[in-house]
Amino acid sequence: MVNRSDATPSIAPYNWLMSAPETFQIPLETAEIYESRFVPALFADWAPHVVQMADLSAGQSVLDVACGTGIVARTAAGRVGPGGRVVGVDLNRAMLTVAARVCPGVELRQADVTRLPFGNGTFDAVLCQMALMFFPDPTGALREMGRVAKPGGIVVVMVPSSLDAQPAYRLLVELTARHAGPEAVAMLSAYWSAGNLDELLGTVRAAGLEVLSTRTRMGTAHFGSIGEFVAVEVESTPVRERLTDDQYETLRREADDVLHTFTTPGRRAEIPIEGHLVAAQRT
Ligand SMILES: C[S@@+](CC[C@H](N)C(=O)[O-])C[C@H]1O[C@@H](n2cnc3c(N)ncnc32)[C@H](O)[C@@H]1O
Repeated sequence: MVNRSDATPSIAPYNWLMSAPETFQIPLETAEIYESRFVPALFADWAPHVVQMADLSAGQSVLDVACGTGIVARTAAGRVGPGGRVVGVDLNRAMLTVAARVCPGVELRQADVTRLPFGNGTFDAVLCQMALMFFPDPTGALREMGRVAKPGGIVVVMVPSSLDAQPAYRLLVELTARHAGPEAVAMLSAYWSAGNLDELLGTVRAAGLEVLSTRTRMGTAHFGSIGEFVAVEVESTPVRERLTDDQYETLRREADDVLHTFTTPGRRAEIPIEGHLVAAQRT
């Protein structure tokens, strides 16, 4: 039997892609784990860069779309100051419950990106970090974000680059596919599915927005060990069900070997994540 006691609870990326908006809700416990473990490990690294792309100034109004527990919203709030307005929207009630505690001064609304509950031209900047790839209709989502931006306002999206640009994740997916079959690639690929820059820019333009600037950056996700990294990625997807305990144990052992270049001397895992940032304007 595999010892699962060190397994990290799921952040459910696969569910974010597959669940119907009307029914999809994560438990509060998952949102708490997202905030306490995954925001510091991964998402907080990107928020200052998203906010920087929007070039915010004091007093402006900002919308954080698919805000999760609000890392981008609270980073933006620091920029626009007490005279500004920051609103976060997310589909998940549990994410918003946690956001309400950790984002004082940020207004929070439960909403689907396809129907943002704001009038045309409400915000100076509309930001969206690590979520576009989960929306069934990314062009429609960007059009809706553009609708609520003021004329001349900024829309900034951040998405992880394609799998082929991810040095560590690519190795993990290849290794997993060897054990769980080629279908495992799709199951582990939700995060990378919007990461082709040319296609992303095409989507932004198709939504009626004018691209102002792009930036591709290598960030780092921090995990306690390679074992924890593998557990996060594999146990949060149906891939785990395709593996026997013996196969999963072998996968973890091989991952330790294949991914050792991504560990620190203390054997913590430092996993590179490349991502694209795009700033666009509502004309
Ligand atoms: C990976 S999390 C990113 C959260 C946050 N932007 C961050 O960087 O920490 C993806 C978020 O997208 C939200 N989401 C997914 N589909 C959505 C939709 N159709 N409308 C609004 N939010 C959605 C999920 O509830 C989840 O909080």
